[in-house]
Amino acid sequence: RGLTCGIDVGGTKIAGAVVDVEGTVVAEHRVVSPAADADAVEDAIARLVLELAARHELTAVGIGAAGYVDAGRAVVMFAPNIAWRDEDLRHEIQARVQLPVVVENDANAAAWGEFAFGAAADVDDMLMVTVGTGVGGGIVHNGSLFRGGFGAAAEIGHLRVVPGGRQCGCGNLGCLEQYASGSALVKETRAQALTPEAAALLERAGGDPAAIDGPMITAAAADGDPFAMAQVAELARWLGEAIASLAAVLDPGSVVIGGGVSEAGDLLLDPVREAFLGQLTGRGHRPVPDIRTASLGNRAGVIGAADLARH
Ligand code: BGC
Ligand code: NA
Ligand code: ZN
Repeated sequence: RGLTCGIDVGGTKIAGAVVDVEGTVVAEHRVVSPAADADAVEDAIARLVLELAARHELTAVGIGAAGYVDAGRAVVMFAPNIAWRDEDLRHEIQARVQLPVVVENDANAAAWGEFAFGAAADVDDMLMVTVGTGVGGGIVHNGSLFRGGFGAAAEIGHLRVVPGGRQCGCGNLGCLEQYASGSALVKETRAQALTPEAAALLERAGGDPAAIDGPMITAAAADGDPFAMAQVAELARWLGEAIASLAAVLDPGSVVIGGGVSEAGDLLLDPVREAFLGQLTGRGHRPVPDIRTASLGNRAGVIGAADLARH
């Protein structure tokens, strides 16, 4: 009873879940995202929903999409890492699955999940940061999602952190996402894989730099490999400093970090906190928000999207 479907569409995977009113996942499934082809992504989403709908009585579908969603919660205006441009995702999916659909930004959905049921259930103002293929942001202010004037607020992955820096999928240079995402971590680590410091990690990868992935880097870091630890700490520093800048504007009651890379736990959080505290304006004279990892893990997005579909 009262079940809705939550879908989380990232740059590399699509996750779907059936969720009840308490935020409990009763069924789930995930598939690889054909991100380069807009129609193929929509077909994959619809297949996932229909598969879940065949076994559960669903009343609505919430989709968290990795892009700029309009104020009407229907259209993905732009997506840096998916081939969507002005895509009426609500219409496309509703037509395929015959259920009411609400579209939300993926990180906003994750923020909502953590706020409603997870690590930020104890505060009214929170900042969510998701670290995966991209870097996403979600802001809950006074108990509601902050969407801005046109729906596209909290695009923190596209804060410029390096003038004239690395090329971003959004078209700009030097965006945070190019330094602090899981993809950036993997790309940079692979690029340094043939240096002497990386020898142990390269061995883990069977000698093939292209075989290095995010979980491998964090596993090596967890085992104390200094090179892998330095790679994670570098990402964490970018993240911590960016969160300090965001705290100057938002003064969040708590900060939750989610996405694949957050599975590294304290390995990531400790250097994030250190960089954050080193950069927070007014430090020593103001309360410091807790920085935590998502307690719903990589399900924050589907759980949040499913709940948003109810309202
Ligand atoms: C996109 C955001 C998204 C984030 C995480 C960024 O590149 O611009 O809309 O929330 O990636 O998926
Ligand atoms: Na967002
Ligand atoms: Zn960008």
